[in-house]
Amino acid sequence: MVEMAEIGLIGLGTMGGNLALNIAESGVRIAVFNRTYGRTQAVMDEAGPLADTLAPAESLEAFVQSLAIPRKIILLVPAGWPVDDQIAALKPLLAPGDLIIDAGNSDWRETTRRAAEAAPQLHLGLGVSGGAEGARHGPSMMAGGTAEAYAMVKDVLTAIAADFEGAPCVAHLGPDGAGHYVKMVHNGIEYADMQMIAEIYGVMRDGSGMTAVEMAPVFERWNGGTLRSYLIEITGEIAKATDPKTGQAMLDVITDSAGQKGTGRWTVIDAQMRAAPLSAVEAAVTARVLSARLAARAEGEDRFGAAPTPLAEGAISEAELESALIAGKIIAYAQGFDLLATASTEEDWVLPLPQVAEIWRAGCIIRSAMLDDMASALTEAPERSLILAPHFAGLLEEHMPGLRKTVALAVAHGLPLPALSAALTYFDVMRTGRGTANMLQAQRDFFGQHGFERLDRPGETDLHGPWVG
Ligand code: 6PG
Repeated sequence: MVEMAEIGLIGLGTMGGNLALNIAESGVRIAVFNRTYGRTQAVMDEAGPLADTLAPAESLEAFVQSLAIPRKIILLVPAGWPVDDQIAALKPLLAPGDLIIDAGNSDWRETTRRAAEAAPQLHLGLGVSGGAEGARHGPSMMAGGTAEAYAMVKDVLTAIAADFEGAPCVAHLGPDGAGHYVKMVHNGIEYADMQMIAEIYGVMRDGSGMTAVEMAPVFERWNGGTLRSYLIEITGEIAKATDPKTGQAMLDVITDSAGQKGTGRWTVIDAQMRAAPLSAVEAAVTARVLSARLAARAEGEDRFGAAPTPLAEGAISEAELESALIAGKIIAYAQGFDLLATASTEEDWVLPLPQVAEIWRAGCIIRSAMLDDMASALTEAPERSLILAPHFAGLLEEHMPGLRKTVALAVAHGLPLPALSAALTYFDVMRTGRGTANMLQAQRDFFGQHGFERLDRPGETDLHGPWVG
């Protein structure tokens, strides 16, 4: 008799293929299916000795029949309609109680809808982070669905997850769309983290005239300190890489136009809808959009000239640039966790924020030493902004002068630092007890009689100025 597979996976692209091999390596027999069988064969060839633990299927029917009941089927197909199409094709072949796990970067609202439509099957939305390497050797995974659905795959997910000092980087975070929501915010933070690093790279390149190769050891040094993280580590490696074709620094032959699949933009739209401040991520998304406007930027440079003067020798130190990144990063993460807290309340999810930070400590793209301290700060006081947690407030006091000096110099020299300046501005707003919105209220009342509150009459919001007749 043919041995039944404990779990199945559909969609053997880079992420799917690697996740299937990871599951096989954990000793779990896994059936695999792909729209084109050639890709399935390629994964089988790559599997080596793991091929014995993989059960390739040539048809969807054969795939479904090879699975032990209740069936557990992971989908790793492109987000959007392909997920719906795949579910529609599967449904007639499934039994009540079977589980579909959507491990792609699905829009959390679509996951919520699919969970509601799933009966008599179950649906689990699983955010998976870590790229190809993570999928193969241990991703960070954010699950949303019923407790019953999660329990069906908890063991296998725990076995394949990244490990942070013995703790698996996977958790059941809430119902239906909650897992994909947290993954979306992870990606928004990822955009800000990457953009800030790119901005500091820009100061070194265009302000200080450093070559990519000269920057590599700087990033390596930073990776030994407070900034220790996967993104800083790969940035150091990228900086020292050479283009095999031309012998130039690899970075110097790459077009400065960044792509995006949409999760960063979704995060920003969602934050705006909830009135949650996410300015560092917004700046990062806009920076990607502008990066793609190559022709318009070239025209702008022709008309107005590039940034006028390089920085004077020694104008900014390596330590100050490091400080800028440390402070900027703390603020971006504080905004991200603030958004998670807001969504958790609005959606009634009760997201366990300390656990979110914990499962981001390894496996995912934004993994960093700082996330361990964030997990501790959120455990102490999950409601408190990270910028007010004693550890991070101390770091901000120490590093804010570096961020301020970096942004000020860059502004003076015409070097754009959108995400870092957004972070600085957020900080300055958040430590200003009396801001300037009294002017906005007066203007609104002047032209529209919208009413305002007076400092000496708190709670009464329909007061007017002398301009209302
Ligand atoms: C991850 C990544 C991953 C991927 C996204 C972002 O956590 O493993 O976030 O999901 O890189 O597709 O891609 P874009 O930069 O194209 O939006």
